[in-house]
Amino acid sequence: MTELAISNKQVELNRGKMIKAGLKLLVWVSVAALALRFVIRDAVGYFTIKQASYGPFWPRWGWLLTHVIGGMLAILLGLFQLWSGLGQKYLRFHRLTGRLYLIGVLLGAGAAFYLSCHSVVGWTFGVSLFTLAAIWLITSTMAYVAIRNGQVQAHKEWMIRSYVLTFAFATFRLWIDLPQLSGLGTRLERYTTIAWLSWTVPLFVTEAILQLQRIMRPAEVKSSVHSHENLLVDTP
Ligand code: HEM
Repeated sequence: MTELAISNKQVELNRGKMIKAGLKLLVWVSVAALALRFVIRDAVGYFTIKQASYGPFWPRWGWLLTHVIGGMLAILLGLFQLWSGLGQKYLRFHRLTGRLYLIGVLLGAGAAFYLSCHSVVGWTFGVSLFTLAAIWLITSTMAYVAIRNGQVQAHKEWMIRSYVLTFAFATFRLWIDLPQLSGLGTRLERYTTIAWLSWTVPLFVTEAILQLQRIMRPAEVKSSVHSHENLLVDTP
């Protein structure tokens, strides 16, 4: 009787694990598809350095190209980063892509500061993107500092926040291209509102999920996470 109960519990646990893995895969594939859509449709064109490709950005083409290279590194490598990091299986690959991801964020955010101060859309839009660039840099730095200090769980959480922000511009383009929104207010009002919504809402939802996972995690898992953290640290 007890053995039967144990094996039933095991089946239930396995089923739970499979559902979780399936959900993770679904989220990952959707995120990858959106990232690729954005890169192919909106970013790759800037590798052709001509006035026609850059339009109003032409006087700042060097800044935009730096931004696009950094942003592309971050958005594409971030996909592998999250996948390999969540599994802890491909640690070497994870470290390499992690460093390249950080370089991408540095380049992308550095150029974004300049671009947002000279926005082709308007200053209110620039304020949202300037703030996004600052928080993008801070969350990525926090992820790096956490792993240098052996805080694996904190590193994962800050990387997730960082990638949610990396993704904000792709979400922004998705919303701004919706024909249903094209008649709302002026262009500046539309761009500014959607720019704020495209990173504040996903960041808040992510935070709620991360905090919920923390609250729901059983006490013994919490303590084993802390005691194992030091084993996984990369040596300087
Ligand atoms: C997450 C933080 C990001 C910030 C703060 C940011 C900021 C900016 C700013 C300020 C501009 C110029 C807008 C203007 O002049 O009005 C811009 C344009 C652009 N950014 Fe980003 N960006 C971010 C992420 C990304 C990523 C990850 C990519 C991926 C490649 C990217 C690709 C582009 C492209 C292609 C443009 C040109 C405008 C367009 O075609 O949409 N950005 N960004």
